[in-house]
Amino acid sequence: MSASQPGLDGETAAEQVLAYHARTRHALGRYAAGPETLDWSAQPDPFREFCGAPRIDLPLGARRLAVRFADLYRADTVPVQALCLDTVAMLMELSLAISAWKVFGPDRWAVRCNPSSGNLHPTEAYLICRNVPGLADGVYHYLARSHSLEQRCRYPRALPAQAELRVGLSSIAWREAWKYGERAFRYCQLDTGHALGALRYAAACLGWTLTLDADCGSAQLTHWLGLDREADYRGAEREHAELLLGVAAGGARAATLSSHASDDPNAWFGQANLLDPQPMYRWPVIDEVARASRKPPTAPVVDVGPIPTYAPRIGGSDAGAVDLILSRRSAQRFDGAGIQSRESFFCMLDALLPRRTTPWDVWHHEAHVHPVLFVHRVDGLTPGLYVLPRSTSAGDSLRAAMRPEFRWAPVPGCPGHLPLFLLAEAHAGKVARMISCHQAIAADCTFAAALLADFDDVVQSAPWRYRQLHWEAGLLGQVLYLEAEAAGLRGTGIGCFFDDACHELLGLSGFGFRSLYHFTVGLPLVDERILSLPPYPALESA
Ligand SMILES: Cc1cc2nc3c(=O)[nH]c(=O)nc-3n(C[C@H](O)[C@H](O)[C@H](O)COP(=O)(O)O)c2cc1C
Repeated sequence: MSASQPGLDGETAAEQVLAYHARTRHALGRYAAGPETLDWSAQPDPFREFCGAPRIDLPLGARRLAVRFADLYRADTVPVQALCLDTVAMLMELSLAISAWKVFGPDRWAVRCNPSSGNLHPTEAYLICRNVPGLADGVYHYLARSHSLEQRCRYPRALPAQAELRVGLSSIAWREAWKYGERAFRYCQLDTGHALGALRYAAACLGWTLTLDADCGSAQLTHWLGLDREADYRGAEREHAELLLGVAAGGARAATLSSHASDDPNAWFGQANLLDPQPMYRWPVIDEVARASRKPPTAPVVDVGPIPTYAPRIGGSDAGAVDLILSRRSAQRFDGAGIQSRESFFCMLDALLPRRTTPWDVWHHEAHVHPVLFVHRVDGLTPGLYVLPRSTSAGDSLRAAMRPEFRWAPVPGCPGHLPLFLLAEAHAGKVARMISCHQAIAADCTFAAALLADFDDVVQSAPWRYRQLHWEAGLLGQVLYLEAEAAGLRGTGIGCFFDDACHELLGLSGFGFRSLYHFTVGLPLVDERILSLPPYPALESA
């Protein structure tokens, strides 16, 4: 499968994507190109809105769902909610909504159910609805600031039929590029993966399944979501279409999308707001890589191919899923003496294995991202470097690519189905911190992970899968965030790491395997001076 984007042959597209990745590496003495100064008071508006579009305020109702976190992994145990306005509202409340306002001195900022690099939130969500009770057929933009839907497009009335819901995601790269410069496109893609995971867990709370629409191309999705409507974006920052998800209530696979954008100009509403009136920099390479990694329409993915048959999910928490999702946070500091139990460590790794349950049932493709673990303080485990190949073939190729002196030893006490190997015994706190742009959380955590993607072959053969590899890494991060909360610990994603230093440590050369994202889990130290306020006080009292 090669790219067939207008004006770009597959080879050129792959070259551009690989060149983008190479030039946006952070190295010990040289960070990827970014702004030299930041004027925090001129930060772009964190909320896209469509002025003039009809708005529907959504209710807050997710706390009525009494589902245990452990049940999300056992689909049949969660009651299936009917698809309607109230349950669509819950889907958004548990995935992309604001979960709290934070206040520290004069500063006030929103945090959401989904994490985001720098809390900049480049991901936008759109709903495509047909026959959903309470919602007229059409396309809606989700406005997290007020937990409401803005109707972008009204579809002509259709004959009543089964309710259909699709969720489309896009990225506004400028929100990230404002702070992070050229590397921002990578972060937009990781954030998309986190949003995908957040939506999958939210759907699971409603007893719903999600299917990633693997056939749809970027141009088609751009059109369906109205992102190509020049007049509606005049002067405003543009959005890149990322992915489309089908929602199925009741375990059935979502039907192939029957809806299409309305070509009637009078059926579209709203004008996109300008997020940054005075951008101080331009990073044209982001537009270039976005173009080169656009997805052509592809043949439907019939099956994911061989999935290892792992034993059923071990462990799991009895905590309420809704509470856990709404209280997920990134740790800003960890207790450097904190210890994690071996059981909770194995349980977290187990949640990363591709299975046909939440959240991996959303993922059609063979696993291409594999964690290398820097274990610092897990009770009963030798500190050192470990690896968890997530596909049957990855073990051999990782072994061939990494340092020959690595041991690949079985791990005492590890459940038989977990493909976890000890590579080297080491107290790796200092090196983990150094690799993670000197961030202390990488040393003070109980363990850190470098998520290695099977990179070169995948991107060469299909440049659009550059995005997909980052989504897979982001999805792994989202699993770790929630699993950490479930274990009474906390996670933090790490987008800032020294690419080459990490690869050198592992003995990786060339572009075979690349680290795309790092993650830390540990015992959090909470800054009690930061106040937490409810996300939507007006809606709560309504
Ligand atoms: C892709 C990604 C990269 C991140 N990189 C870092 C990082 O390098 N260092 C850090 O302290 N936090 C990092 N974070 C955590 C974010 O700063 C955090 O998600 C954001 O501030 C919102 O806070 P919350 O997760 O509590 O909602 C990252 C998060 C994501 C999703």
